[in-house]
Amino acid sequence: MAEATRGEFLSLTTIGLGAMIGGVIGVPATAYLLAPVTKETTFESVFLGPVDRFTSEQKFDPTPATYVEDSENTATSSGLAYVHYTGKKNTDWHAEDAMFVIFSNRCMHLGCPIAATPGGFQCPCHGGVYDTNGERTGGPPIRSLDRFQWEIRKGSELWLTQRWSTDIYGGMVHYYPVKMPGQPTHTPGPSWISNVLYPHVTYTHGPAPGPVPLPKA
Ligand code: FES
Repeated sequence: MAEATRGEFLSLTTIGLGAMIGGVIGVPATAYLLAPVTKETTFESVFLGPVDRFTSEQKFDPTPATYVEDSENTATSSGLAYVHYTGKKNTDWHAEDAMFVIFSNRCMHLGCPIAATPGGFQCPCHGGVYDTNGERTGGPPIRSLDRFQWEIRKGSELWLTQRWSTDIYGGMVHYYPVKMPGQPTHTPGPSWISNVLYPHVTYTHGPAPGPVPLPKA
């Protein structure tokens, strides 16, 4: 093979250095972009209260219940859930006739705490409005309220076991990995694009549950 000229050697060296510098800058940038997608924490189950605390609801009047997600960081991980008793008996949280629907109180515009009303929920910050299914019906929020997966343990204890973001369309509630307020649950095209643009909140989880029909009016 012919020996490289001095000019060719300098060109190759320049390209090599450029690639190295690009790598040094690019790898952390790529890692920064991908870190929120790959770094995950576990949603620890949370005891919400005795089941009979939540079963006296008449019409739509969900019971607020505080919880602490991380017992070692109580100041930053406390939240409030709204427990809606449907009057039905099924203790499978994902069933169409589940006895509870548990909503997050975090507005899907910028995350303000919402308040329950007879017609659903309202946000005091910028006028976001949701119906009794948590579906956005007015104001700036871009999606429906997050919901909690729940479980009844020892026959009488209501526990939160996972959190999901939701979108409601086609008469169904669709579940997604949790996204931040203001972020869509999904976008057109491959899901990895959506995940880089709008990284999940970092809960570990299995496949998202399938869609469930809205309750009949
Ligand atoms: S944070 Fe709720 S409407 Fe803006």
